[in-house]
Amino acid sequence: MDTFEEILYFDHAATTPVAPEVLEAMLPWLQGAFSAGNPSSIHRLGREARAALDGARDSIANLLQADYSEIYFTGSGTEADNLALLGTLWSASPDRNHLVTTSIEHHAILHSAHFLQEHGYTVTTVPVDSQGCVDPEAVRSAITEKTALVSVMHANNEIGTLQPITEIAQIAHERGALFHTDAVQTAGLLPLSIPTLDCDLLSLCAHKMYGAKGVGALFVRQGVKVTPLLHGGSQEREKRAGTENVAAIVGFGRAAELAKETQTQEVPRLTTLRERLLSGLQNSLEGVRLNGHPTLRLPHNVNISVEGVEGATLLMNLDRQGIAASSGSACSSGSIEPSHVLKAIGLPDSLASTGIRFTLGRGTTEQQVDQVVDRFTQIVRRMRRF
Ligand SMILES: Cc1ncc(COP(=O)(O)O)c(C=O)c1O
Repeated sequence: MDTFEEILYFDHAATTPVAPEVLEAMLPWLQGAFSAGNPSSIHRLGREARAALDGARDSIANLLQADYSEIYFTGSGTEADNLALLGTLWSASPDRNHLVTTSIEHHAILHSAHFLQEHGYTVTTVPVDSQGCVDPEAVRSAITEKTALVSVMHANNEIGTLQPITEIAQIAHERGALFHTDAVQTAGLLPLSIPTLDCDLLSLCAHKMYGAKGVGALFVRQGVKVTPLLHGGSQEREKRAGTENVAAIVGFGRAAELAKETQTQEVPRLTTLRERLLSGLQNSLEGVRLNGHPTLRLPHNVNISVEGVEGATLLMNLDRQGIAASSGSACSSGSIEPSHVLKAIGLPDSLASTGIRFTLGRGTTEQQVDQVVDRFTQIVRRMRRF
């Protein structure tokens, strides 16, 4: 196995490496006396663990400009999304049984919506345009007096398109509905402010912001009712039963602090690298099409379709050349399916199956971007010859 430094890691939207500072913050909670502290215990070690959880809660609240009492830890971004959708629909009055969402949401949202539908709720899925943008007026038309919740992601995980969240939240509120956004891809990367976004619920997770896997959080505005998914102990003020993963949560808090310190420099740096990568690829090869919006997109995301090459094979060739990226296809039931996002923006299957996503991160350098352009160009030229 190559060391991390030897890999051209261009898959930060899938997961980010754990930052050394995060690991350092987590370690005391995984060894020795502190590892024994259960935050629900009354003795000193328990109280120390509880204080550590509260410190992390403070850091997440600070990252979002929210109140500390509005942050609930979960076991993942997926769980935060499930809690947002199921929890609010289950809490809504019987005459508010309708959910509005979009066709490009993560499966954590789409499959939760489907589950609700199977259990008697109604769901309207708003389409997107060819750049992956949600039209706020289409959301307005989809909302009825029965709508309990509107859920629109902040940025898409595949094509990186950013949505006009504040405008959509205001439309939901005008009609008496709550508004949730899945900010798993933007939290930590872009400066986020709950007062500006105006959302009632927001999902995030640690492993997209240099924290550990298996921990997420849901912001729930004070006064919004959410029925818990898990039943048991009274952890997380009875919204999420189960002994907390103290080490991962402490690391999440540290990750949030680091994000806050670095994001104002990182956003322009990543945007410049993103443009260098895209123009490098388009200048070296014919038939490279950018998927998603050219400017209203995540600063670290380049998603392209490459004419004449198949995405999964391209990805394997990239891996052999030491490049970790993602394809726009997913293996399901043994066959390669083009992604629902690329289909939703209207790409024909032939182009959708050639989608490749590169996502940059804190460790990405200009030199690495140039190496990826060179190796990618050679691979595609070779593949097109056969
Ligand atoms: C937009 C979005 N939502 C939700 C998730 C799920 O988060 P987790 O992996 O923590 O379950 C992801 C992960 O890829 C994501 O990109």
